[in-house]
Amino acid sequence: MKYAAITDRLSTLGGAKWDVHLRARAMAAAGVPILSLSIGEPDLPPPPELLDRAQAAMMAGRYTYSNGRGEPALLAALAARYTRRTGREITPSQFVCLPGTQTALYATLLALVGPGDEVLIGDPMYATYEGVVAAAGAVVVPVPLRPEHGFHMQAADLAACITPRSRLVLLNSPHNPTGAVLTRAEVQAIGSVARAHDLWILSDEVYEELVFDGETFASPLDEADLAERVVAVSSISKSHAAPGFRSGWCVGSEEFTERLLPVAETMLFGNQPFIADMTALAVSAPSQVARVMAGRFAERARLMHQMLDGNHLRVHKPAAGMFAVVDVRATGLSGVEFANRLLDEEHLGVMPGESFGDVLAGWLRVSLTRPDAEIAEACRRIAAFSTRVMEGRG
Ligand SMILES: Cc1ncc(COP(=O)(O)O)c(C=O)c1O
Repeated sequence: MKYAAITDRLSTLGGAKWDVHLRARAMAAAGVPILSLSIGEPDLPPPPELLDRAQAAMMAGRYTYSNGRGEPALLAALAARYTRRTGREITPSQFVCLPGTQTALYATLLALVGPGDEVLIGDPMYATYEGVVAAAGAVVVPVPLRPEHGFHMQAADLAACITPRSRLVLLNSPHNPTGAVLTRAEVQAIGSVARAHDLWILSDEVYEELVFDGETFASPLDEADLAERVVAVSSISKSHAAPGFRSGWCVGSEEFTERLLPVAETMLFGNQPFIADMTALAVSAPSQVARVMAGRFAERARLMHQMLDGNHLRVHKPAAGMFAVVDVRATGLSGVEFANRLLDEEHLGVMPGESFGDVLAGWLRVSLTRPDAEIAEACRRIAAFSTRVMEGRG
């Protein structure tokens, strides 16, 4: 049988990146005691009041069809939240509710780019970005996020990658996998480049509420002079430890959401009212559970730094999010070799940096979403393995 080209474009993305993680899972299923820090899932349940709200809404019959944009109460709650955040009036018609940030990214890219267009994305990048860009038929152009700049995208590096085909810059701050948080000045500088070249800015803000104490979140959406060209996407997956509910949204100009609406309607035929009720409650105030998680993740990142940063390993301190990245280049191994041998010899699963882009070749990504004792044990195993490698090199 013949299949559409999209299935070919997506078939080579995904699989290989997750090799070490999938191997760790298979070994665990076969009874090997694996310590797995390869993916980031919140290690707390969602707040009980959210579960109560979803359950009560379901029992009250909130399981009928919705509309394509989102339930009115959720749209109102989102409008109030973003009006507070941006300091400008953001109306309910500037949103489209979608199942998670992932679907919001997919739908937005489908609405904004097509075959031949170039999408500029910081390298390293979240593992699904290549797929959502390829699904729309466009091409990823990696913009190096340099370790010496704390993995913050520099406007000059962005400008150097622009061609006549550039159409959109996809920003992700706080950043997965590096935990970098762009400053307002950096966002404004990137915004100036986007304005000069008439680019869209798609801002993935799923980790907004997981910024560590003392750090400040900045968004291009909050810059009034960029408003017409910015679309922000987010969800309650990370902020409320609720990824399985698949509840997210995008926010942009009314013109953009009018264009997006038929795309969303065609894909989904509306959202789930009982999940919308829960989400309306979630977004009506800053997330308390996010503060708890951010505190824990910051502490675990400090622990990793204390235990591992030294002679031949470097731990990059994240400013937000669920991960820390570790530079293992001094061992002479690639991130892929290091992660595979770590799994075989120490039964520890972490992601090789190469899964996130060329810039992270020779790095590891370690999830901070496991208890402190597991993080400490993981550090001991990484240290033991790297010491063995260094001794072997003589
Ligand atoms: C940067 C980034 N964007 C999007 C997502 C997907 O989030 P959601 O569960 O809201 O679809 C993730 C999940 O890990 C992520 O790390």
